[in-house]
Amino acid sequence: MIVITAPTGQIGGRLLSLLLEAAHGEQLRVVVRDPSRLPEAVRGRVEVVTGSHGDAATAERAFAGADAVFWLVPPDGSVPPEQAYRGFTRPAARAFAEHGVGHVVGVSALGRGTRQAARAGLVTASLAVDDLIAASGVAYRALACPSFYENLLEEAGSIREHGVFTDTVAADRRAPLVAVADIAATAAGLLLDRSWTGVGSVPVLGPQDLSPDDLARIMTEELGRPVRYHRQSLDELRTTMLGYGLDAAFVEDMVAMKRAKDEGLDAGAARSAQAGTEFAQWCAHTLKPAVLAAPEAADVR
Ligand SMILES: NC(=O)c1ccc[n+]([C@@H]2O[C@H](COP(=O)([O-])OP(=O)(O)OC[C@H]3O[C@@H](n4cnc5c(N)ncnc54)[C@H](OP(=O)(O)O)[C@@H]3O)[C@@H](O)[C@H]2O)c1
Repeated sequence: MIVITAPTGQIGGRLLSLLLEAAHGEQLRVVVRDPSRLPEAVRGRVEVVTGSHGDAATAERAFAGADAVFWLVPPDGSVPPEQAYRGFTRPAARAFAEHGVGHVVGVSALGRGTRQAARAGLVTASLAVDDLIAASGVAYRALACPSFYENLLEEAGSIREHGVFTDTVAADRRAPLVAVADIAATAAGLLLDRSWTGVGSVPVLGPQDLSPDDLARIMTEELGRPVRYHRQSLDELRTTMLGYGLDAAFVEDMVAMKRAKDEGLDAGAARSAQAGTEFAQWCAHTLKPAVLAAPEAADVR
């Protein structure tokens, strides 16, 4: 039995579709807060445990009898990162050990082994989650991800209205990015072929390192309208996020992550032989429809 957490999210939803296609003869179980958010076609084909996978009683029910687990910490800026990451994962790690779960695949971040790893804010918190899961005794693979292409969907309105997208890194700082579809495909492969043992991380990267100026050029070509990059300062980012009412410690960790990325946190990560989704292809298939959609429909991922 494979257990999938966060099955209504960007990665979990795609992973669930892939496993429904490919996991012949293997039972699937999802852990979901609100089962009505599962697609109609999925209900009835999977066992459903209702609740949050960060909750001890839910984790106890969800991971009993599991051979393998897909683990994803939901983004949560309303509480301090220690609570949002390790605190959220602790009940599950206990349940993995108690129920003798064999294999776990978790969504994590690039950065392990770099000089910035210990002060990279939310990335440091993700790496600490990996250590916590690994200490439970399971075989574990952390999917070491750079920033997602999909983060740009949050900029669809600004790109549509003003031809501008915003981040904090230098305009010419090249780094890898990744499509969530590639993360889901990598997770599916590891969950289905469980011949691996021990603890390790699997970098999941798109095919090229790209700078914000590269992204602007490719978006301009693919969308057929001018798009330019606006570099925001870390102080501006902090003020904006605090203005949204986010937890102050979370905001500081977000700022620390952005600073570490601008210092080259993700640079130099090794690529696997497997080619991921090209940014231009992602723009054509995913960003373009979101930018061209009616404003009220466009910003919903
Ligand atoms: N964005 C990046 O550039 C980046 C880079 C590296 C790593 N990551 C990591 O990627 C992960 C985000 O993945 P994603 O984009 O697939 O997430 P997502 O689309 O935002 O989905 C979040 C999922 O978590 C569920 N969820 C939210 N709050 C929950 C709670 N309190 N308890 C249980 N479930 C809850 C949501 O379900 P509902 O239907 O119940 O709301 C949904 O299924 C994070 O761990 C992040 O650190 C992100």
